Amino acid sequence: MTATTSAHPGPHGRPGEQPAAPLRAGLVGLGAMGRNHARILAALDGVEFVAAVDPAVEAAADGRPGPGGVPVLRDVGELLALGVDYAVVACPTALHEDVGLRLAEAGVCALIEKPLAHTAEAARRLAEAFEARGLVAGVGHIERFNPALQQLRARLEAGELGEVFQVVTRRQGPFPHRIADVGVVKDLATHDIDLTSWITGQGYATLSARTVSKSGRDHEDMVAVVGSLADGTMVSHLVNWLSPLKERFCAVTGERGCFVADTLTADLTFHANGAVATEWEALRAFRGVAEGDTVRYAFPKREPLAVEHERFRDAVRGAAGGIVTAREGLRTVEVSTAVLESARLMADVGGTGLPALPGTAEPDGPASGVTATVLPSGAPPAPGAHGRVAEQTT
Ligand SMILES: NC(=O)c1ccc[n+]([C@@H]2O[C@H](COP(=O)([O-])OP(=O)(O)OC[C@H]3O[C@@H](n4cnc5c(N)ncnc54)[C@H](O)[C@@H]3O)[C@@H](O)[C@H]2O)c1
Repeated sequence: MTATTSAHPGPHGRPGEQPAAPLRAGLVGLGAMGRNHARILAALDGVEFVAAVDPAVEAAADGRPGPGGVPVLRDVGELLALGVDYAVVACPTALHEDVGLRLAEAGVCALIEKPLAHTAEAARRLAEAFEARGLVAGVGHIERFNPALQQLRARLEAGELGEVFQVVTRRQGPFPHRIADVGVVKDLATHDIDLTSWITGQGYATLSARTVSKSGRDHEDMVAVVGSLADGTMVSHLVNWLSPLKERFCAVTGERGCFVADTLTADLTFHANGAVATEWEALRAFRGVAEGDTVRYAFPKREPLAVEHERFRDAVRGAAGGIVTAREGLRTVEVSTAVLESARLMADVGGTGLPALPGTAEPDGPASGVTATVLPSGAPPAPGAHGRVAEQTT
C-alpha cells in the first residue's frame, strides 16, 4: 500500500462517516531512538505498527518479534513488500538519504529523524524527492513538541516579551559513543538552530562559530556559535558532548524581561523586569533593568515524542501544518553547514550561505554555498559586514 497526501480522508473522518482504516506504519532503525519510536508506534491510535527494519537486531535473524511486538526485518525492501503508508526513519544520520529516497520512490510518506541528512545536498535531494511525489515528509525536531518551548513560542507570539533582543541556548552533556557519522553540530546543534528559528519566526542572517575536537574522532565535539537573525535578534548557542553536566537551556531576553525554558524538565519561567524603585544606593547607580517578579508556569506536560507522532499521523491523513517539514529540515541542515564552514574558515558567514525562511526574500546569489566575510584581524568589522544581512533576508 502506498500513500500520498491526498489519498487519505481527514484525521478522524467526518461525523457520520466510517472511521478511517488504520494507517500502516513501519520503522527503520531500532537503536536508542528507534526503540522509543517503536514504543510510541505500538500504542498510537489509528495506526497499525507493521514491522521494523534493523539488520543488527538479533530478532531479525531468528524471527522473534522485536520492540513494539512486531517482526524485525533486515532490509527496507522487505518492509515495502509488506505495504506501508508511512515509515519512521531512525537509522544513523548518514543513511537517512538512502533510506528516505527508497521510501519516496515507493510512494511512502516518512518521518525522518533529525538531522534530515548528513549534508545539505543530501537533505535537498530528500526534500525534493518527497515534494515531487506529493508525499508527506516530516523531520524529528522533537524540541518543537516540548511543552516548555510550545508555551514559550505562544507567549512570544502573543507579544508578552515585547521586542525580542536575544536568544541564548546551551545544550551540554556526556559523550554518546554510538553517534559516529556526524559531529555535534549536525547531531545536536541542529536542535538549537531549528528551535530558535521556530520560536522567533526568523531565519539566520549571519553567524560566526568555533569548534574543537577533543575526543579523537573525525568530527567536532564542541561548538560555540554567535549570530544574528533576519530581524537583528542576537543569538548564541553553546553545544557539546564533553560535559558531565547535562543541560538543555533556552533563554529569550526582550523588552519586558526574560523567559527561561528547560527542555529536560519542560519548565518555563519568566523573570520580569522590575517596576519597583530601589532605595539601595549601590543598586540605584546601575541604570539597566531592575529585577522583578519570577513566575514558573503550570501547564500540561505530554511526552514530546507522542505529540510528534500524533501530528505526523494526522498530516499523513491530510491535516495541514503541525509537523516539521522536510523543507524546514533542509534549512536547518544548511545553517549547520554554515556553522561548520565558519569554524573552518574562522570567519563570519552570512548572506548567500544562509537560507531565508519562507515568506522572506531569498538572498541574492546562488541558493547554496557559503559566502564568508573574513574580518581583518585586529580591525573592527566593516560596516557592511554585519549590516548587509538584514537587507538580504527581509
Ligand atoms: N530526536 C532526537 O532527540 C534524537 C535523539 C537521538 C537520536 N536521534 C537521531 O536518530 C537517529 C538514530 O540515532 P540513535 O541514537 O538511535 O543511533 P543508534 O546507533 O543507537 O541506532 C541506529 C540503529 O540503526 C540501525 N541500522 C544501521 N543501518 C541500518 C539500515 N540500513 N537499516 C535499518 N537500520 C539500520 C543500527 O543497527 C542501530 O540499531 C540519528 O539520526 C539521530 O540523530 C534523534
